[in-house]
Amino acid sequence: MTTTEAKKEIARLSELIDHHNNLYYQRHTSEISDYEFDQLLKQLLQLEDQFPTLRQPDSPTQRVGGAITKNFETVVHQYPMLSLGNTYSLEELTEFDKRVSKGLGNESYEYFCELKFDGVSISLIYEEGILVKGVTRGDGVRGDDVTANVKTIRNIPLKIKRKNIPKQFEVRGEVFLSRSNFRQLNKEREDIGEEVYANARNTASGTLKMQNSAEVARRKLDCNVYYLLGENLEIETHADAISKLEQWGFNVSPTYSKVGDINEVFGYINSWEKKRLDLPLETDGVVIKINSLLQQRKLGFTAKSPRWAISYKYKAESLSTQLKDITYQVGRTGAITPVAELQPILLSGTTVKRASLHNANEIERLGLRIGDYVFVEKGGEIIPKVTSVDMSKRDNSKSKPIKYITACPECKTPLIRHEGEASHYCPNENGCPPQIKGRIEHFIQRNAMDIDSLGEKTINQLYHLGLVKSPADLYDLTKEDLAKLDGFKELSIKNLLTGIVNSKEAPFEAVLFALGIRYVGKTVAEKLAKHFKTMEALSEASYETLLEAPEVGEKIAESLIHFFKNKDNRKEISRLQKAGLQFTLIEKEQHKLSNSLDNKSFVISGVFENYGRDELKALILAHGGRVLSGVSGQLDYLLAGDNMGPAKRQKAEKLGVQIISEKEFEQML
Ligand code: IVH
Repeated sequence: MTTTEAKKEIARLSELIDHHNNLYYQRHTSEISDYEFDQLLKQLLQLEDQFPTLRQPDSPTQRVGGAITKNFETVVHQYPMLSLGNTYSLEELTEFDKRVSKGLGNESYEYFCELKFDGVSISLIYEEGILVKGVTRGDGVRGDDVTANVKTIRNIPLKIKRKNIPKQFEVRGEVFLSRSNFRQLNKEREDIGEEVYANARNTASGTLKMQNSAEVARRKLDCNVYYLLGENLEIETHADAISKLEQWGFNVSPTYSKVGDINEVFGYINSWEKKRLDLPLETDGVVIKINSLLQQRKLGFTAKSPRWAISYKYKAESLSTQLKDITYQVGRTGAITPVAELQPILLSGTTVKRASLHNANEIERLGLRIGDYVFVEKGGEIIPKVTSVDMSKRDNSKSKPIKYITACPECKTPLIRHEGEASHYCPNENGCPPQIKGRIEHFIQRNAMDIDSLGEKTINQLYHLGLVKSPADLYDLTKEDLAKLDGFKELSIKNLLTGIVNSKEAPFEAVLFALGIRYVGKTVAEKLAKHFKTMEALSEASYETLLEAPEVGEKIAESLIHFFKNKDNRKEISRLQKAGLQFTLIEKEQHKLSNSLDNKSFVISGVFENYGRDELKALILAHGGRVLSGVSGQLDYLLAGDNMGPAKRQKAEKLGVQIISEKEFEQML
């Protein structure tokens, strides 16, 4: 393909992908399947890899991330990012209204009400319609340049597809993790034995500051915008700004409302108090703004916040109830979660009986005693929280201190606590019932072996009947075994057996994920499969060899070593192999892109601006080159990124190996 042809094809694919993105994120419909969409994106990625100079800053491939930011550059905000005054009562709001009225003399005025989204604020700078910078609030005067991460947020337009837009403008909004994405993220973390995050807001904030934008993309942040700034915007009211933002393709929450006076503001506040709990994201109040921009300017700012806007915070419904007892749950990975057993209480429309206490530290932090009265709150999450002890009702003679358990409540094995971790663990991996059942549930899930005719209830029965004690037992199940299950008739037996047989087709990376090795999630499993290619190579890899694989750090390497050292695990793996599961990577036919690197060998070292290391590796292979692991006299090029070890450089220099930069490499293609 010539450069001109490539340019045309890149433009065609970009436009097509933008079209489907727009349908999906703005209009919530779709014309093609997720798979077809991914294929289009893959084609574009491949072309951009082949012709790196043709990669556009607003290319839809930016959405998948990949860029690594080592240090976030500090950016001074053109307009400082102020905070809002807070009010907690309708009286305080009436005071605000009086101040506004006074400030505006006898003029009449309108308000604009929005919900206060609970995330982190972001400033988005557009030039010539293209998103050029995304900056965090920082201290309000200067923030961090997190552009690469912001570009992964699907509902932030990379380019405004409209004529007559101002040369430069700034949009502000709130970046957040929706309730469902937050829940999903925690589910995945729990599944691989990572500690779960406590709240969506802090997680969104931490995610926005991650160095690896591919990980940011995976976490699926969202953004609601609520502010347009710049010169010559041709808008007179905040309502105009909001409607412009909507037209330009930004995501504006449809919950806003223009209202006449402060009484209507009260109406808005009341109408959203309960309804807001059903929104896809957490909100903690209402922001009330003066609609006219001229009047906004008249009212001006104090040192910290505008005089033309204020926020009203909803009181989180919090009630006090008695802590009856603490019970302990054992997860799939052996992690222990203490649970508060409460005197049932009606809270925001549902009866609350239990609340998670996370870990021993949390119990200590709260200073809990059994018999205490505690305040319970329902945040955005479904599981309520214990926020504090109701000290006014403490009675030392009737309450008693909590002794955290030292043995597993299920199998009595003494618990352990790893250094630096908050949770206690039951180490009896292969003998503790909830861990065994959890491992089977993990094994059959959709991303793993995908045996969808098997649910939690059936697994429980299979376990109690002694038929399945490990995933490999599934492959020995017979018709006669299944006939012993409640409600299993000919058809359901056949379905389950077919499901089990079909699972043998699941690819190697799915098998690897299914094994439930701690810290080996779906993405890591994919990288491991790609790198080691066979179960044998992976299971025999040394700690050092493991560390050479992409995305593998010390924690994962240790976990893999620990897993493959275990005799029971080895036996299980060999049984799974005999059952016919895929233990080898089936490599998709690599499309050769050119012969430009034929017969040339490379060692990749350090961190790169535009590519991940495995991306570089794929690129070299696709252009006919080879990737070696160590510097030797035979090596042609040492591809050097930042922070490359000095030893490698010295060795290459001594052996006369050419050292090239990322830029020089791009030119070779
Ligand atoms: S307007 C001059 N509108 O709340 C202030 N802010 O406490 C302009 N926030 O930093 C902010 N939802 O991060 C505005 N609908 C909304 C908002 C909102 C959430 C956040 C924002 C701001 C903070 C101020």
